[in-house]
Amino acid sequence: MTKTIAWAALALWVGTAAAVGVLFFKGQTETAVDGRQAITLTPEERDIVLTEMRTMLGSVRDVVAGLADGDMKAVIDGARTSGSNMQTAVPPALMLKLPMAFKELGFSAHSGFDEIVVAAQQGETPDMILAKLGEQLGRCVSCHAEYRLP
Ligand code: HEC
Repeated sequence: MTKTIAWAALALWVGTAAAVGVLFFKGQTETAVDGRQAITLTPEERDIVLTEMRTMLGSVRDVVAGLADGDMKAVIDGARTSGSNMQTAVPPALMLKLPMAFKELGFSAHSGFDEIVVAAQQGETPDMILAKLGEQLGRCVSCHAEYRLP
């Protein structure tokens, strides 16, 4: 009897862990009318993601303006605002709703800003930093082409 309960508990645990695992990987999406993947979030969660987006756009502006002015400190400060340290504020429930590919792109977008910080600190040329920013904007473009937040 105890053994049966133990097996049942184990099966339940494995089932739950598997379900969380699948959720973590797939997230919660459906296909939108324009063919993109629509990720269903609560208004508060959507707000968190969009606020992060607007911060990243601000960083892009600061990096471009800094390069145009030859002001590497502005480039570093601007890129750092959207670096990997920014991700810590994402609640676990939101993490589960985002598909794996979205999370990967999100992480690489943040570490792309880290790379710009390092390049500017190491005295790379503005052209090199612009090239990195170009790669970085490619990440923005590919994620926006794939996902939307209705
Ligand atoms: C991991 C995916 C992903 C990446 C990477 C990404 N975005 Fe977004 N972004 C989105 C989604 C999804 C939306 C919502 C679009 C929609 O619903 O049509 C969005 C919306 C936005 C918005 C609108 C914000 C608002 O308040 O409405 C801005 C600005 C933006 N992104 C800027 C950027 C910039 C700049 C980058 C690159 C540095 C970037 N994003 C990278 C997924 C991403």
